Amino acid sequence: MSTRQLSGAHRLSAALLLLGSMATLGSVTAHAADSAAIAEGREIAADRNRGNCYSCHMAEGAEMTGNGGPPLMQMQLRFPEREVLKAQIADPRIRNPNTVMPPYGAHGILTERELELVTDYIHSL
Ligand code: HEC
Repeated sequence: MSTRQLSGAHRLSAALLLLGSMATLGSVTAHAADSAAIAEGREIAADRNRGNCYSCHMAEGAEMTGNGGPPLMQMQLRFPEREVLKAQIADPRIRNPNTVMPPYGAHGILTERELELVTDYIHSL
């Protein structure tokens, strides 16, 4: 391989690296959390023995959803602060003392870790 070919290959791999990091940056700005956390949070939300969120909430890609609660969409617009969203899931009685939504954190329905993951997922919707 000549030096010219070598530097060409080098430039190409540098360009690919740059593209790769741009793609990563793009997804980071779209969602604060990484896709693994979002996927796990989504599983917990769908699990009837854990989140069971879809029994009351419509969400993109979810099937057989109930409508007892508002559709979960545009969450970053409605909850710019992730911590406010997390508090709503942990204890919805803060905003509505008569809510039918279970206090997932306050009643220990979800663990702290599960609560974080579900918040990541919901915030990505
Ligand atoms: C038994 C029905 C029910 C279940 C199950 C339920 N919710 Fe709710 N949720 C509601 C209702 C009703 C509201 C509307 C506000 C209120 O009454 O508290 C609500 C409100 C919300 C809101 C605020 C939406 C907004 O736009 O203000 C979020 C976020 C939310 N729920 C997330 C969840 C998540 C995440 C789960 C699962 C871990 C879940 N909910 C499970 C009934 C439910």
